[in-house]
Amino acid sequence: MPATWRDLQELRHLEQACFQQDAWPLLDVIGVLSFPGVVRLKAVIAGKMVGFIAGEVCKPEDLAWIATIGVLPAFQRRGIGSALLNACEENLGVERIRLSVRAGNNTAIRLYESFGYRQVGSWPDYYRGGVDAVVLEKHFHR
Ligand SMILES: CC(C)(COP(=O)(O)OP(=O)(O)OC[C@H]1O[C@@H](n2cnc3c(N)ncnc32)[C@H](O)[C@@H]1OP(=O)(O)O)[C@@H](O)C(=O)NCCC(=O)NCCS
Repeated sequence: MPATWRDLQELRHLEQACFQQDAWPLLDVIGVLSFPGVVRLKAVIAGKMVGFIAGEVCKPEDLAWIATIGVLPAFQRRGIGSALLNACEENLGVERIRLSVRAGNNTAIRLYESFGYRQVGSWPDYYRGGVDAVVLEKHFHR
């Protein structure tokens, strides 16, 4: 279901739990919950946010970027990440979607590859600790 600015505290918590030192600063979390045109979806179990995804279309290019996806550790491996990714892809509705992921994050990379994302580039030294970002892309025939 769609997330709103009321989810600020829960999203902060989820970011910390999922990304530790790579968690977004407060301003980025506020931005992703409030900028117009962002697809922001949450997974909720028993009234609690357990997963979140956000993506944004870059209009002229018919290309979208997935900005973040995370599922609370205790709720991982139950299909929630896949369900969020599916729903976000549908909502974005573009021909190409890109995302970046920390090199070595094999759990996420496996998820994306199983969805049909393929590597199209890398950004050296992008994440904390000098870790590269792997850039993946998927094409849709809509
Ligand atoms: C990546 C993430 C969102 C996946 O969420 P999830 O709800 O666990 O995903 P799913 O249960 O839908 O699993 C989908 C597939 O991902 C892969 N996967 C998920 N967890 C895995 C694990 N621990 N080990 C290996 N593969 C894994 C598998 O291919 C899995 O399919 P399968 O269960 O049929 O084998 C979640 O692991 C997460 O939040 N990680 C921390 C944050 C992060 O790294 N986000 C991505 C940043 S770009």
